[in-house]
Parts: sequence; C-alpha cells; structure tokens
Amino acid sequence: METIGIDALALAVPNGYLELSDLAAARGVPAGKFVEGLGVRQMAIAAAHEDPVALAANAARRLLAQSGRDPSEIGLCIVGTETAVDHSKPIAAYLHGLLGLPSRCRVYETKHACFGGTAGLLTAVDWIAAGPSLGAAPRVALVVCTDVARYELGSAGEPTQGAGAVAMIVSARPRLFELELGASGSFSRDVHDFWRPLDRKEAVVDGHHSVACYLDALTGAFEAWRSVAGSEPLLRTCYHVPYGKMAKKAHRHRLGLDGITEAEAARSFEREVAPSLILPSLVGNIYTGSLYLALASLLEAEAARLEGARVGLFSYGSGCTAEFFSGRVANGAGAIVDRWAIARSLAERTRLTFEEYEAIRRADPQVDRAPLGTLSVPTGAIAYLGIEQERRVYSN
Ligand code: HMG
Repeated sequence: METIGIDALALAVPNGYLELSDLAAARGVPAGKFVEGLGVRQMAIAAAHEDPVALAANAARRLLAQSGRDPSEIGLCIVGTETAVDHSKPIAAYLHGLLGLPSRCRVYETKHACFGGTAGLLTAVDWIAAGPSLGAAPRVALVVCTDVARYELGSAGEPTQGAGAVAMIVSARPRLFELELGASGSFSRDVHDFWRPLDRKEAVVDGHHSVACYLDALTGAFEAWRSVAGSEPLLRTCYHVPYGKMAKKAHRHRLGLDGITEAEAARSFEREVAPSLILPSLVGNIYTGSLYLALASLLEAEAARLEGARVGLFSYGSGCTAEFFSGRVANGAGAIVDRWAIARSLAERTRLTFEEYEAIRRADPQVDRAPLGTLSVPTGAIAYLGIEQERRVYSN
C-alpha cells in the first residue's frame, strides 16, 4: 500500500516574545519555577494584527512557497483551532481567499481543544487513503493548526501561554514523515480540566486536574495503540507540549506502565524526547499546533540520522480526547530539514518588555471590534487590519 503522511511543514509565530524570567520577576516568582519547573524559556505573544487567521495564512503561504506546491493542487483544507475568530465562518474559508485555493476544494474547521489539529490531520489521511475519484489528480490536503493561547493575567496558567501556527501538506508518498496507517489508539472521557466559555478569550483551567487527565488519557491511548502496533520499539516520541515539563512527566508515566524506573526514564527522556522540546521551549503552548511544533523540533534536530526510524506521537485535547499514533521519518527528510532554519529565525524575533506584554493583553477585548485603520500594522506579512461593515479585513 502507498505511504501517506506529512509531505511538508512550515511554521508562523508572532514577532514578539516574552522571556519567562521577565514574567517571573514581574509576578514575584523565582525564575526557576517557570524555566526549570515548567520547562519554558520564552513564550510568543501575538499582537493585535497577528490573530489566528493571519498566523495560519502566513504559515500556509510559507509552506506552499517552500514545498513548491501550487494552491490549485489542494483539494481539502482543514484548520484545527480552539481560538477561532467567528462562531460560524471557519478560518479555512479565510485561507481559501487569502491563499487562492481552488473552488473545487473542501474547506472547514475542526475543534476539540488542542486535539483539533490532529483531528484534521487524521481526517486528511483517511481522505487520501480513500483515493482520487476516477481520472482525477492525486489528493493533496492542507492542514493548518493555529491558536493564540491566553490565560488570565497573574494566574498559574499565565506562564504556559504562546501563539503560532503549523501548516502541513498531507499527501501520498510524503517526503517528511510517513504515518503508520491503522497504528493508532484513542481515548476519550467527559472531564472539566480546561475549557473556554463562549464569552471569554481566556481559558478556564483546573491546572493540576488537567495534568492528571492528560496522564490518564496517555495510559488509555498508549495501551490502545500498543494492542495494534506490533512490538517494534519507538526510537523517539513527541508528546503534546503545554509546557516542556509535561512531556517529561508523560514520558516517565508511559515508561512506568512497563515498570521502568524513574532513573532509567530520565535517561531515556534525554535521548527519546528532549530534542522535540527545543522549539516549544521558545514558543510556548500553541494548543493545536503544539504536537507538530514538537515534531518539527525533533526533525530539525535529528531528521538525517532518524530516516526510517519509528516515532510515536501523542495528541491530547482537554475535555478530553487523545490519540497515540506512530510513523517514520521519511528517507530524504534530512536534506529538506537542512533548509528550514526555524530555530535561527526564532532568534530574530523582538523581545517584549513585561509592560508591552501586559499592554497587548489588556487591549485584547477591543481587538475584535477595532474599526479598520485603527490598528498599527507592519507591512510584509498577512495581517488582521480591523473590522469594516461587521467583516474582518486582512491585508495580503
Ligand atoms: P502551579 O501550580 O503554579 O505550579 O502551576 P506548581 O506549583 O505545580 O510548580 C510547577 C513545577 O515547578 C513543579 O514541578 C515544581 O516543583 C516546580 P513538578 O512537581 O511538576 O515536577 N518548581 C520549581 N522548580 C525550580 N525552581 C523553583 C520551583 N518552584 C516550583 N523555584 C500548572 C502549574 C501546570 C498547574 C499551571 O501552569 C497551569 O494551570 N497550566 C495550564 C494547564 C496546563 O497546561 N495543563 C497541562 C495538561 S492539560 C493540556 O495539556 C491541554 C491544554 O494544552 C489545553 C488544550 O487541550 O486545549 C492545556
């Protein structure tokens, strides 16, 4: 059977970031709690013009340019998000216009907290596996995960914010990462660990309960995956990364299911998981895109030496649903990733002061009603410009 998976991947993050040590100083907390205790160094902060649509469009535009794909090839566009800009019109419809996708293209949005992007990816894989209609070109999908993560100022969740989008081309014979079709385990349960009522921009969270729910879901999904996935070991695992320490706890928990000691799990973590946490530690929790940011981090660090290696992926969405699935780094992925330079591009962002960060957050409630022309918007990237006649307007 033909392979299916991620053919290309690109990222867009806001230009501004906050050092967690600056946040700690302002909140009167030891920096060690955020940097070592949570495993986050910097978090991306979205300015008003960098909304989830603009982030998604910029990631997708970069993806098309880097992969040499023409928008006319895309037959399915799914956007996973939990910070949508409209209760009805999906971000995928905005992308359809901003990217010039063909009219013969299915577009929609998927939501289940941080799982929404995985829902999009797995649906795209099924759509491709179903095969092209007679005489039609091979199916190619665009899946974009985009979010701006916000918790209340001064809350325990505040150091685990972030913002960004990951765009992926999903196709047959993928050049980056092949998914193992059928090697997948699900787990779901109705819990209140993290949610966002309709009238709020900031998430409500029962923090320590959410950690327990994540770990329970990992047990269920991993056992379900293991029952169908065969005995070949995983050489690397990428977990959903609300903050780096959570992935460490997850790995320890997973190995603990097999009676592996904490000391052994810690050694395994450095080899099997740590490379996937380099980029997340510089961007923070980007919700739907977090797992794919971790995969990008792993590939950027090690793709050439991992070609052919089996990699586990764990996606968790609060509420909750989870999936453990697996795939292989494609042959030739190393040469593609050599051209990425994601970590280098993150070093070119602007460091915000704590006061600038708070000003952005305090202006948040007005942004979705800002009249066109009232926001300060730099040129260059696709940006949200404000509202005209009840409609969101974007530059292109
Ligand atoms: P907290 O309660 O303030 O922190 O918030 P804590 O007291 O648990 O400390 C955190 C860690 O720092 C601990 O390490 C401390 O020991 C350590 P641990 O015991 O966990 O290994 N620590 C220090 N280390 C070094 N130097 C120090 C120091 N002080 C303490 N001086 C909490 C933590 C995670 C609860 C909070 O940040 C939060 O509520 N975050 C948001 C919720 C979240 O991210 N949950 C994760 C699982 S749910 C999920 O992933 C889904 C999600 O992405 C949403 C979606 O699906 O859409 C969130």
